[in-house]
Amino acid sequence: MILVTGGTGLVGSHLLYNLISQNKKVRALYRRKHKIDLVKHVFSYYSGEHEALFNAIEWVEGDLNDVPALEKAFENVTHVYHAAAFVSFEPDKYRQLRKINIEGTANIVNLCIAHKIQKLCYVSSVAAVGHTQQLDDLITEETSWNKEEDHSVYAITKYGAEIEVWRGTQEGVDTVIVNPGVILGPGYWRSGGSGSLITKIYKGMLYYTQGVAGYVDIWDVTQAMTQLMDSDIKNERFILVSENLSFRDFQTKVANALNVAPAKKEATKLILEIGWRLDWLNHKLRGKRRKLSKQLAKTVNSKRFFDNSKVKSALSFEFARIDESITKVGGYFLKDLE
Ligand SMILES: NC(=O)c1ccc[n+]([C@@H]2O[C@H](COP(=O)([O-])OP(=O)(O)OC[C@H]3O[C@@H](n4cnc5c(N)ncnc54)[C@H](OP(=O)(O)O)[C@@H]3O)[C@@H](O)[C@H]2O)c1
Repeated sequence: MILVTGGTGLVGSHLLYNLISQNKKVRALYRRKHKIDLVKHVFSYYSGEHEALFNAIEWVEGDLNDVPALEKAFENVTHVYHAAAFVSFEPDKYRQLRKINIEGTANIVNLCIAHKIQKLCYVSSVAAVGHTQQLDDLITEETSWNKEEDHSVYAITKYGAEIEVWRGTQEGVDTVIVNPGVILGPGYWRSGGSGSLITKIYKGMLYYTQGVAGYVDIWDVTQAMTQLMDSDIKNERFILVSENLSFRDFQTKVANALNVAPAKKEATKLILEIGWRLDWLNHKLRGKRRKLSKQLAKTVNSKRFFDNSKVKSALSFEFARIDESITKVGGYFLKDLE
């Protein structure tokens, strides 16, 4: 039996589809029942038989911080995919981020040890990989994390979660870690990842930045995860990035796919510096949620180029082109609007 945490999220739902399509026996952890409907909706993008595929999942309720519920979820499990996490860049969510991402992952790791799980796949992020000193240097799996840098609260907790996973490897849990860039996939149009970005671009964004990030298709993420789990590879991490693109390019490509106008003005360093301070004031004076923290302002304007050669050579893996991915995801977005 395979256990998938975060089964109701973007990665989890697509991973479930991938595993169920291979006739694997799968149990999925859910936290909020209403989110399960979204998984059925995601399945409907890909198959006329989506009801039957969806009904093959065994759902079990549980929070990452509820160990007795997790104990139940682990019964007769041999393999675990840990994709659940709290994704937020709001500094005042730091405690919650630590609780879910670090403590929650420690709970999963401890249960993997106790239940002698054969293999664990942990979904980390490129946010948990270090930064290079020279702008043009490619970031690899070996680029070391510098704790003195001004990381986002999300990055700190994804890094902390990885430390828990590496501890598990020391205690005998065979593990693979994937570090995806921004994941492009359909269905989650309102949640924090690429989905909400696509929604914002559709509604019309004023500004673009020259920052560069890594992007990857959701199917490449789940494909790499299952291939790594089925391989003899263990106790290694893999960057999953198809292409490094400037936010301006990404935004223009998405706007073209959605037939809307792309942003015309550049958010310069100065604009972003003013922007995060105004955002902070708005939060302090009017209780508004933080949309642009100091670290996020820095991230959207920084250029990070990722090296994807490790996974390519380990699995003879070929990534989908981002242009194709954007066209596909844009198509689902427009279909969901109908
Ligand atoms: N999306 C990206 O661009 C991206 C990029 C790099 C790495 N990642 C990583 O990929 C993983 C999956 O991300 P995603 O995009 O699928 O995120 P998502 O759509 O927000 O899904 C997160 C999942 O985690 C679950 N979850 C959150 N807190 C939980 C808790 N306390 N107990 C149990 N379950 C909990 C959520 O349950 P509910 O549905 O109940 O909220 C949901 O199923 C995360 O580890 C994320 O850090 C994502």
